[in-house]
Amino acid sequence: MDILGVDVGGTGIKAAPVDIATGQLRTERIRLLTPRPATPDAVAGTIAELVTHFQHTGPIGCGFPAVIRWGQVFTAANIDKSWIGTDAQHLFERTTGCPFQILNDADAAGLAEMRVGAGKGRMGTVLVVTLGTGIGTALFVDGNLVPNTELGHIEIKGRDAETWAAESVREQKRLTWKKWTRRLDRYLRAMHAYLWPELIIIGGGASKRHDRFIPNLTVDTEVVPAQLRNEAGIIGAALGGAERGLSSSGATAALQLADAAGSQG
Ligand code: BGC
Repeated sequence: MDILGVDVGGTGIKAAPVDIATGQLRTERIRLLTPRPATPDAVAGTIAELVTHFQHTGPIGCGFPAVIRWGQVFTAANIDKSWIGTDAQHLFERTTGCPFQILNDADAAGLAEMRVGAGKGRMGTVLVVTLGTGIGTALFVDGNLVPNTELGHIEIKGRDAETWAAESVREQKRLTWKKWTRRLDRYLRAMHAYLWPELIIIGGGASKRHDRFIPNLTVDTEVVPAQLRNEAGIIGAALGGAERGLSSSGATAALQLADAAGSQG
């Protein structure tokens, strides 16, 4: 079964159909620029363009950079403030005509890593940290997601941690790898003190340069780079959608039922 995975980010909105059985993209992903200002209607319009491009008429899983409960947006750290209080699920369903499941973007990327990437089969406490424009976190206990952890916003040195240690801060402030690694290390040590994870998976834009900083971290737990990189958000959005009950169209479901009945009798 295919679900269209959509990953909404601050600069780009990416999508591709995902084979839920294997967790692999069916075709190459497409990326469109995030509209500016990224208001709810404008973003919904871009998502509709992607849906039309793939001629997709079935279910859609969508990662979104905010706290999401029951399809509704509760925060807006790095997105247009007008999202707060928006029922994103209904908006996207109305605009595209397709059923949606929406989850936090870091939760989506984390799910992909846990199901088909660096955390596959890992039990215990695993923390996935995405380092990009902001800091996203996804917390797993025995493979089960604790959603919306938002641990990128803990306070370090009197500041919101993501405004001090995100990958975007390294780029904007032109920090050396050494200086930024010290900041990241301090952040991860705090995560370790709170959660005692057996494994930390580093995802997001910074993960492709993992050789520049992971070997120099001193946090006392296993730290590995994400395996799915750019595609984690799309794959995890689709897998998350499937885990939350998105299923194939009624017709396909009926066929599956008919097949099952046939094989039993
Ligand atoms: C947001 C999170 C998001 C993270 C990564 C943070 O600013 O609060 O919801 O997961 O950025 O995009």
